[in-house]
Amino acid sequence: CGIVGYIGTQAASSILLEGLRKLEYRGYDSAGIATVLEGEIHCVRAKGKLHNLESKLAGEDNPARVGIAHTRWATHGKPEEYNAHPHTDTAKRIAVIQNGIIENYRELREELKERGCQFRSDTDTEVIPHLIAEVLQQAESMEASPLVSIEPSPFLEAVRQVVNRLEGAFAIAVISADYPDELIVARQQAPVVIGFGQGEFYCASDTPAIVPYTRAVLTLDNGELARMTPLGVEVYSFEGQRLKKTPRTLNWNPVMVEKQGFKHFMLKEIYEQPGVVRSCLENYIDSHWTAADHRHSPIRLNLSADLYADLQQIQIVACGTSWHAALVGKYLLEQLAELPTSVQYASEFRYAPSPLTPNTLTIGVTQSGETADTLAALAMEKQRRSGHASEFQARLLGITNRPESSLGDLVPHIIDTHAGIEIGVAATKTFVAQLMAFYCLAIDLAQQRQVIAPAQLEQLLVGLQQLPAQIEAVLESQERYIEQLAHDFAETQDFIFLGRGINFPIALEGALKLKEISYIHAEGYPAGEMKHGPIALLDAKVPVVAIAMPGTVFEKVLSNAQEAKARDARLIGVTPMDEHEAAETFDTVIPVPHVDELLSPIVTVIPLQLLAYHIAARRGLDVDQPRNLAKSVTVE
Ligand code: G6P
Repeated sequence: CGIVGYIGTQAASSILLEGLRKLEYRGYDSAGIATVLEGEIHCVRAKGKLHNLESKLAGEDNPARVGIAHTRWATHGKPEEYNAHPHTDTAKRIAVIQNGIIENYRELREELKERGCQFRSDTDTEVIPHLIAEVLQQAESMEASPLVSIEPSPFLEAVRQVVNRLEGAFAIAVISADYPDELIVARQQAPVVIGFGQGEFYCASDTPAIVPYTRAVLTLDNGELARMTPLGVEVYSFEGQRLKKTPRTLNWNPVMVEKQGFKHFMLKEIYEQPGVVRSCLENYIDSHWTAADHRHSPIRLNLSADLYADLQQIQIVACGTSWHAALVGKYLLEQLAELPTSVQYASEFRYAPSPLTPNTLTIGVTQSGETADTLAALAMEKQRRSGHASEFQARLLGITNRPESSLGDLVPHIIDTHAGIEIGVAATKTFVAQLMAFYCLAIDLAQQRQVIAPAQLEQLLVGLQQLPAQIEAVLESQERYIEQLAHDFAETQDFIFLGRGINFPIALEGALKLKEISYIHAEGYPAGEMKHGPIALLDAKVPVVAIAMPGTVFEKVLSNAQEAKARDARLIGVTPMDEHEAAETFDTVIPVPHVDELLSPIVTVIPLQLLAYHIAARRGLDVDQPRNLAKSVTVE
């Protein structure tokens, strides 16, 4: 699911391919490119990875100066070449790429078929070029063209009419052999950015494709379309009104989307975590705060007082790794700020929300800010509360790494996690950054509600400041060791991860990381629950990784681990080095520094990320782009 487009003075195809490469991280299973060459649409597509497309294009010297390109993550129709984008109309005068889902495509397809249209793919997208072609044909056959509502382009007007007929969430880019100086893009709930160069313009579904060329970008909002020509960009509403929009400057540089000597983006991003924690501390925490300052909060999230006023409950919606961060968040919000908190999968909450409660804060956690289920859950919550008394009104807060995303448009308050772009599909540094956001939020709420002793708060802040160095220590002392350890699991087919309390979500996250990139079956379980089921899976072939950090449940985790050992499982412990009891329990210890239990997830997750990474890398797998996964899932 990546869109790239170019119009300007250079040969488009190499720029388009380079753009697709920058979006590869989002996950895809086929790719394609269309340009306008000598008055014709020239379209090349291939199943599988980009190099398949590249070999088909090899030897072509294509001077076309306008084109669109796409990587597809199959939703409607198998990942075959005939389903790959771009899709064209019958006469092959128009080419379209789309991200998202056209919900009413069946009706539109039937309608077009009745009028004699023949379809060449199983996709929802193919209706779009056919519909555009129809509108253009009708206009040409009429004496007085009805396509005058948007001057100066009949092509733009035809696309405008067609997007008004589409239902669902989509972003499209369209070119036409008959309008070679135009590239039209439209957005409805799926992201599109436009980059401004000198006499050349770029569009993409995400900024990494554009950053190598320009940092001046304009983000389309829902219900907007843009006409790009070599002379400039015009933005219109779906109703046809011309809109005034100005580009902004991205504070990124192209280096951020390079591997910088690391073998994979994921490893680079694991190593960026001390810096991510540091930048969160700098952005949000007053490092000079002491218990003597207890009248004001050490946290600077700049959230409006309305969010906190008379707060009684918190509910969090998220997917995937963000859902795990939300579980750690729940622990902190309940234990530190004494606020009852529920965590829901966004995809479940949308269709079975909990009964309305008053004075409730709803938090959406999504690193990309584009996950369809999370956005829909938040929009639903806003909508269902809108007809009620003021104490039931939605209070929405987003935690995201992309404040400029669709989430940013949807919710009035954001905590920006400042982790920098994450390219590896498996989230690492954005997870740690989300945890930091929850520390800030929980501490802020605890202080404002006066439910935390100033001395405990001071101690927590001191602990937080030590985290970057502690993560560095784990990376420096353990990476080689974990790389070696990974050799032992060449044949392993199942893994169990155990944790309790605040480290239970870390067990889930460790298992998810391993599943995602190594394709090994892994389960995360609360250590105390193992005896109620997963213990039946254990034997000498199933390693068990247990997180055992001193604190409320330390002894409990160790005795749960003993239960696994008694079933011959190999026991690997993530635990402080100097804990003798732990050292005796585990067959293998991955030592981590001594940390306050409440802060320990930030440290314990690091070896689990490294373990997943090295097992997958050792198996020779595509760590940054695991099969079947997408970086941000913009479909339901
Ligand atoms: C996809 C990614 C996961 C991610 C999840 C939620 O499934 O592969 O790594 O955790 O989406 O993404 P979000 O952007 O909402 O945090």
